[in-house]
Amino acid sequence: MISDTHYPRGADAARAPRESTGAAAVAHAPLPRFLRACRRERVDAVPVWFMRQAGRYMPEYRAIRARHSFLDMCAQPELAAEVTLQPVRALGVDAAILFADILLPLVPMGFGLEFAAGEGPVIHNPVASQDDVERLRPVEPRESLGYVLEAIRIIRRELPPHVPLIGFAGAPFTLASYVIQGGSAREAVDARKLMYVAPASWHALMDRLSLVVRDYLLAQVEAGAQAVQLFDSWVGALSPDDYREFVLPYSARVLRAIEQTGVPVIHFGTGTATLLPLMKEAGGSVLGIDWRTPLRLGRDIAAGDMAIQGNLDPVALFAPRAELERRVRRVLDDAGSRRGHIFNLGHGILQHTPVDAVKYAVDLVHELTST
Ligand code: CP3
Repeated sequence: MISDTHYPRGADAARAPRESTGAAAVAHAPLPRFLRACRRERVDAVPVWFMRQAGRYMPEYRAIRARHSFLDMCAQPELAAEVTLQPVRALGVDAAILFADILLPLVPMGFGLEFAAGEGPVIHNPVASQDDVERLRPVEPRESLGYVLEAIRIIRRELPPHVPLIGFAGAPFTLASYVIQGGSAREAVDARKLMYVAPASWHALMDRLSLVVRDYLLAQVEAGAQAVQLFDSWVGALSPDDYREFVLPYSARVLRAIEQTGVPVIHFGTGTATLLPLMKEAGGSVLGIDWRTPLRLGRDIAAGDMAIQGNLDPVALFAPRAELERRVRRVLDDAGSRRGHIFNLGHGILQHTPVDAVKYAVDLVHELTST
């Protein structure tokens, strides 16, 4: 029991000194419940955090956003750090997620990125040909994305020790679908066209993107991220065969590189009911499940090799308390075990979500699962 609640010896022991302030703390500080769940170890309660937990549904976010553009908030480490900490203070979640965006690494690659009001992201010079791919620049994250790494260092200094920081990046496929479409691309029609019409260009693009994402995540880990999530948000547009041929090798390159560091990786996508076995094959320590996919299915596929994360429908947070409670209980039941489950939504928090419902869900998960 006692060794169970202490920092591990074994593979991760080498990381422990950096995660703490001194040798004594290393020997006695319990591993936070979020990190224990990633490793499928016993927990005192099921950990909970939410994708997009920092954002416009929070009044304290809107107060800062009223004075700065979204990209400015990402680019100023003090602001990004402040916004990252807001949901930790307001909600009592078990992990913080870095405030940034999956599209930021596209800028040093040579893409013109803008967040136009009401339209979402726009990329001014989308990829249309092999020449466009060849013009893309390699990225040294310590130079061109140093502001994100600085935010990580500030956040780590300010977070309480029981709340780990999650870094993240977009998966190569989801980033490819943005740079080919020039903006949001749920069905990835243009990306699929490039795969089928000019496969060599597709593979060249995925090669470049996967190197950038790999190095960016490794730099986040080096700066202090204690787990990372790879967001393959639009991957559900693909058939399993296309996923295997056009995506899996590139996601695997990223996931394997992070696994080598000993830091847990959450592999998340949406619309992935048919893709989960292949996502598992690609890698990661935690499988993220969206709300359309039964968590039981995710659990059966993870089958004790990976932890699972999910999967309350984000719209459930708009329901009356009794309905919300019923749905939270169902997610916990479907997870099957308190071990190796991280409670989350099946996708990000929606813009007008009531903050008190989010807080209620956090407290309920803790209450229903504490030992
Ligand atoms: O989860 C978090 O709280 C951390 C911060 C975070 C943001 N974006 C902040 C953000 C994370 C992890 C992301 C990831 C992201 N960004 C994804 C993958 C996750 C997902 O939702 O599938 C994607 C696809 C993007 C691209 C992106 N950025 C979109 C589609 C939008 C929405 C545009 C809009 O107007 O709604 C953004 C903007 C964005 N990213 C906002 C936030 C808080 C809203 C910006 C604002 O305040 O105007």
